[in-house]
Amino acid sequence: MPSFAGDLLDPAQSHGDVLVQIAGERAGDVTDAVERLLGVATGWRVRWRVEGFRADNRVEDGHGLARNPFHFTEGFGNPAGERETAERALVRDGQGEPDWAVGGSYQVVRIIRFATELWDKDSVHEQERIIGRRRDGRWLDGAPTDEQPNFAADPKGRLTPLDSHVRLAAPDRRNPPPLVRRSYSYDRGDGDTGLVFSCFQRDLAQGFEAVQKRLEGEAMAKYLLTTGGGYFFVPPPGDAWLDAVASA
Ligand code: HEM
Repeated sequence: MPSFAGDLLDPAQSHGDVLVQIAGERAGDVTDAVERLLGVATGWRVRWRVEGFRADNRVEDGHGLARNPFHFTEGFGNPAGERETAERALVRDGQGEPDWAVGGSYQVVRIIRFATELWDKDSVHEQERIIGRRRDGRWLDGAPTDEQPNFAADPKGRLTPLDSHVRLAAPDRRNPPPLVRRSYSYDRGDGDTGLVFSCFQRDLAQGFEAVQKRLEGEAMAKYLLTTGGGYFFVPPPGDAWLDAVASA
């Protein structure tokens, strides 16, 4: 993963050969699975690990939602159905990737530390103008959560500021960015709290990188410090890819 404007990547928390993500509904089950894996993965060195959680984790109208530590609900901008999710996230035939990679996905993980103390000094109104949505997901121009805002009718950003997160992340409401987000919150104590941002896409340049570059001048940038993470490839289901890779 390259370093983007404002990143301060700690090599001890970045990159790696293999990413293992273990998720579950109960923290105890996840810890047990991690212990079991470490028990059998002898000879492997753990480069870095981070524990995440999704507060108020739920599904509403097909959207996986969770509340982040900055009091906003995330997940509304993701596609609701399986077809659209696959369309954005999975490598397709004919896109220039080897056959074995079709049906797999590029995963981007970013450990983003958030200046929560500074953020909490801002009023809710200011925070909502920085994100470009209300805390509960409604749009600043009054559009309901499940409808599209009318950015074209607000060219100067009077209602939804031009440097707000959603306006820069997805300016063209008819062509949403081709990525699917699924992030976790983390809290390592001593104010080291933030997001284990995670997203999946079929193409890194069109997905994460295009959005990340647009977000460079966002109003939220001064609260964020990306300290780690990496780019990984999630192979397609099944193990046919293993034979293909082994014989390549
Ligand atoms: C700590 C850092 C971040 C926070 C607190 C944050 C928070 C949010 C919130 C509250 C929303 C609105 C609700 C939703 O649609 O999920 C949102 C939307 C979005 N975010 Fe982030 N985000 C962060 C980092 C990122 C990064 C690094 C990217 C990608 C480079 C990104 C891409 C997006 C996209 C594509 C949307 C959907 C925009 C739309 O369709 O309206 N976010 N984010």
